[in-house]
Amino acid sequence: GTGYTARFKVWRGDAEGGGLEDFAVEVNEGEVVLDIIHRLQATQAPDLAVRWNCKAGKCGSCSAEINGRPRLLCMTRMSVFERDETITVTPLRAFPVVRDLVTNVGFNYEKAREVPSFVPPEKLAPGEYRMQQEDVDRSQEFRKCIECFLCQDTCHVVRDHEENKQAFAGPRFLMRVAELDMHPLDAAADEGLDRKTTAQEEHGLGYCNITKCCTEVCPENIKITDNALIPLKERAVDRKYDPLVWLGNKIFRR
Ligand code: SF4
Ligand code: F3S
Ligand code: FES
Repeated sequence: GTGYTARFKVWRGDAEGGGLEDFAVEVNEGEVVLDIIHRLQATQAPDLAVRWNCKAGKCGSCSAEINGRPRLLCMTRMSVFERDETITVTPLRAFPVVRDLVTNVGFNYEKAREVPSFVPPEKLAPGEYRMQQEDVDRSQEFRKCIECFLCQDTCHVVRDHEENKQAFAGPRFLMRVAELDMHPLDAAADEGLDRKTTAQEEHGLGYCNITKCCTEVCPENIKITDNALIPLKERAVDRKYDPLVWLGNKIFRR
């Protein structure tokens, strides 16, 4: 057949520490990196820990780093690598290791809880909601998120700065704030909740300097930066009615 032997380095260890372990492993046509990890479990490393569920890019649990880049193990085809290339698989760097390729992503659940949910409009019953198609489409894009947290892992604001974690919600959750802030039926403002202000003061929108690394790694190809973060920044700035910013926008943004 078309099988070959690939060289892998896989991080093994736990919260106390660990390192890369070398493997030579069989690869067959059409396989993805998760298949190789499963073959290692079946043949050479029965106690290798990895988290996965759907093997279809939909559950978001097999997130790890391959050659230093955040990726889904089940959606990364072996054919994207050279056959003589050593493939290095490591756990997500921004979150604490539990064991081997499994990290504790609890940070993201904390951040999710910090975003106040949709506030239903008072005068409308469910079923009476009406929205323009473009507003529906915008929400739909953000709702493709599978919560893999690859964007959260790659954003340099927390990737290299543990100390920023308290103050920064990360791209996935700033996107959620943006979605709600742009939602025509969200009535948070009626209840005194200004999502633009909380985006800045509680979710750390100002830490994002638009590097777009989040967008680059998103397996759902959501335009996180262009469609959520930048619009949210613009809305937050407009909110302040700063005449210079306003003038700057008028003159330069063409
Ligand atoms: Fe994953 Fe994309 Fe959702 Fe981020 S926005 S958690 S990269 S699917
Ligand atoms: Fe981080 Fe994405 Fe902004 S990678 S800096 S959240 S554009
Ligand atoms: Fe579900 Fe990879 S196993 S996304």
